[in-house]
Amino acid sequence: MLEIRELEAGYGKKQVLFGLSMDVHEGEIVALIGPNGAGKSTVLKTVCGLIPAWKGEIRFKGSHINGAKPAQNVARGIAFAPQGSRVFHDLTVMENLEIGGFQLPHKVMRVRIEHVLESFPALKERTRQDAGRLSGGEQQMLALARALIPEPKILMLDEPSLGLSPNLVRSVFEKIIEINRENGVSVLIVEQKVREVLDICNRVYSLKLGKVVFEGVPDTLKQDKAKLKQLFL
Ligand SMILES: Nc1ncnc2c1ncn2[C@@H]1O[C@H](COP(=O)(O)OP(=O)(O)O)[C@@H](O)[C@H]1O
Ligand SMILES: [Mg+2]
Repeated sequence: MLEIRELEAGYGKKQVLFGLSMDVHEGEIVALIGPNGAGKSTVLKTVCGLIPAWKGEIRFKGSHINGAKPAQNVARGIAFAPQGSRVFHDLTVMENLEIGGFQLPHKVMRVRIEHVLESFPALKERTRQDAGRLSGGEQQMLALARALIPEPKILMLDEPSLGLSPNLVRSVFEKIIEINRENGVSVLIVEQKVREVLDICNRVYSLKLGKVVFEGVPDTLKQDKAKLKQLFL
């Protein structure tokens, strides 16, 4: 579904990704782990078109998407929930969801919002409330719900657990599994909560200094703590 080959990218003159290759197949949950500054967020930003690819190739469902604008990628089925910035605090829950559907015809957007809200009962009761009044966990649920409005084929999540208590991390991860199973959405997830993300993913890539240094199934790392530790040194 998503194929990244020999990707190089960065900011200004600073190169961050050095020939990175990875894949996300249909229906998979793929985790992207590695130390701070390894380039994980940069991978997601390059794929969704927020920053340009310098070299290499990005293909989505067989089409070459290097150079595509973020809005074009959303229309193609690529959703991105960036690190940290979750929801617009001064807008209501409903207004936040409407932003998720900004490219859709009005009627389609309304139907999609109603449909997505069925899976998020806590949000459904609070559509008129300002998003800033939701708890951290509820805001993350809203960010997930918003990303689903365009009915993406792949959902890219950058540290959805950031700042959440362990219980909330669990419920957000359970929701991600549900989205994957019930909506058939592939997931590419960047996470610092490594143990937890290894429990929900089908495959994992670990980055260091803009390169893939490990690629495999989560069990390999769960059974080899020394290897896992080494990936973060
Ligand atoms: N907007 C930016 N401008 C310049 N350098 C950046 C920017 N964003 C990230 N970087 C640098 O790119 C490198 C990789 O960052 P990032 O992809 O955010 O890493 P990760 O998500 O793995 O922690 C880091 O050295 C970081 O300082
Ligand atoms: Mg990051």
